Amino acid sequence: MNPTFPSCRLRRLRRHPVLRDLVRETSLSADDFILPLFVRHGKDIKKEISSMPGNYQLSVDRLVDEVGAARDLGIKAFILFGIPESKDATGSSALADEGVVQQALRTLRPRFPDVLLITDECFCEYTDHGHCGLLKEEGGRLDVDNDATLDMLVEQCISHARAGADMVAPSGMMDGMVTAIRRGLDEAGFTWLPIMSYSAKYASAFYGPFRDAAESPPQFGDRSTYQMDPANGDEALRETALDIAEGADIVMVKPALAYLDIIRRVKEKFGLPIAAYNVSGEFAMVKAAAQKGWLDERRVVLEILTSIKRAGADMILTYFARDAAKWLKT
Ligand code: PBG
Repeated sequence: MNPTFPSCRLRRLRRHPVLRDLVRETSLSADDFILPLFVRHGKDIKKEISSMPGNYQLSVDRLVDEVGAARDLGIKAFILFGIPESKDATGSSALADEGVVQQALRTLRPRFPDVLLITDECFCEYTDHGHCGLLKEEGGRLDVDNDATLDMLVEQCISHARAGADMVAPSGMMDGMVTAIRRGLDEAGFTWLPIMSYSAKYASAFYGPFRDAAESPPQFGDRSTYQMDPANGDEALRETALDIAEGADIVMVKPALAYLDIIRRVKEKFGLPIAAYNVSGEFAMVKAAAQKGWLDERRVVLEILTSIKRAGADMILTYFARDAAKWLKT
């Protein structure tokens, strides 16, 4: 501090807009975004998700239009979620060659050779009980069977890789999932295919709208036996360290906004590329307030996305990708 002119010291660099641009520490662009998309069986279906305005369940033909439109806005990375025709206890349709995500990949792959197609690897959309894997009774409680689910996850990843996925993103929070998937992919010849692991995924109420979108709410209990307790921070570092040791190429923190401290800690500790998931509930609450005229949507969204990057994220999975890409251009 200059003791003689204390009042002007920090404001000097804020006076000129060009100078503000020059000293800005964090920048945001469409290159940072991954757009989540929901694909379902059928033809000519574009069904808006009521709690996520501007986001849709799409049949494969309409998905092609959606990817094309987003691509035109500069969005080049997508993560696909599937809503199957039928669900069962094991989520078997997740592995089917004609599964909805597999069909989507085979259609998109040749049409958009330059976009990155990521697949979410989990079973909650495919099981009739809505949990993220196979169930088993353990000590008198019905719970997700970790190791049996790993075998299924490996099969799901290989099936997606064969259909054209560029990267797999296991989101089920099973212990050992990255080791199992890496080994499985390598044995199947996909040594080059990266894994983006949902490493620190919290048991969050912010996933509410997604569960409408993917039709995947748990039919009993909740996900607290496999997703993390929102009260824990050190544990996120243990989860992330294990995933990195197991071979994760990109680690994720999810949700983003209520967990900016976790993003920062992971960034400082590991320095690996970090993805942050700006989840459905974070999207919905901004949209709802904006629709009521209570918030300036454009400013709030860009501020939120910038804060997630400032916290340390290298990339952001966000339903705002389209709007933000548009706003960043103008
Ligand atoms: C699947 C999965 C979920 C989300 C992404 N992958 C739901 C959940 O864990 O219940 C949530 C994404 C969002 O809320 O936007 N396991």
